[in-house]
Amino acid sequence: MSLMRIDRFISERSEYTRSEIKNLVGKKLVTADGTVIKKSDIKINSDTVKVIVNGNEIRNQKFRYIIINKPAGYVSSTSDSDGTSVMHLLPENLRTKDMFPAGRLDKDSLGLLLITNDGDLAHRILSPTRHVSKIYIVKLASPFKSEYINLFRNGLQLDNGEQCLPVDVKGAESSEKLAFIRLHEGKYHQVKRMFSAVGNHVEVLMRISVGSLVLPETLGFGEHMELLHKNVESLFSEPDFDHLCSKFSVNFSAKLINNRS
Ligand code: URA
Repeated sequence: MSLMRIDRFISERSEYTRSEIKNLVGKKLVTADGTVIKKSDIKINSDTVKVIVNGNEIRNQKFRYIIINKPAGYVSSTSDSDGTSVMHLLPENLRTKDMFPAGRLDKDSLGLLLITNDGDLAHRILSPTRHVSKIYIVKLASPFKSEYINLFRNGLQLDNGEQCLPVDVKGAESSEKLAFIRLHEGKYHQVKRMFSAVGNHVEVLMRISVGSLVLPETLGFGEHMELLHKNVESLFSEPDFDHLCSKFSVNFSAKLINNRS
């Protein structure tokens, strides 16, 4: 049995602050297992309790995993200091203080972004030693050249001399200016800088997978979806690059070019 104060239980799982909770308790708007709570420091069994605040049940789940299909124009951070945060794409009940984007997409980039409050999982995804793969589809300014395949596979050097790990890259069948690229690391603006190192330019970039977790085709730009805990481990397995590319070139290329926000 895990005993904890009810105000802490609520504040860790919602947007309410402790003083707001005290206020709601004073107004008899908080119940635990059907009993009206009279003091906000009362201890409850967090393993089994059902807490209702102002008519809404507080979900008793410690960690949450939300994926969004990020549109252009949002920054991958919890604050609005450098632009509108991706957190605004979530409904208020998911925008709790402890949620944050596990990873980064540039402001003008699109696609799969995980938002969670599970710090250990985020650390595992971002850890440079784990090399969790990320696959992107890009729209290039000039046609994809087959010579990129070996250049990228052999480990490209960026403009500032930084050395990249070997990368898989492949032109899409549906358009000569679309390509897929799989990275196992995450240097600053890496995809854009790699294509610029070979004399091309990335016009649109969309992340379509992290590990084996693939952006669902039904998830429109700006939409979100909650992952079941059992699906989270797929972040750490490796998808088949060729299979994913052939699946996505048809389905997503039109969307990528025509509908960016
Ligand atoms: N590489 C980039 O250049 N931008 C991103 O947003 C992600 C990877």
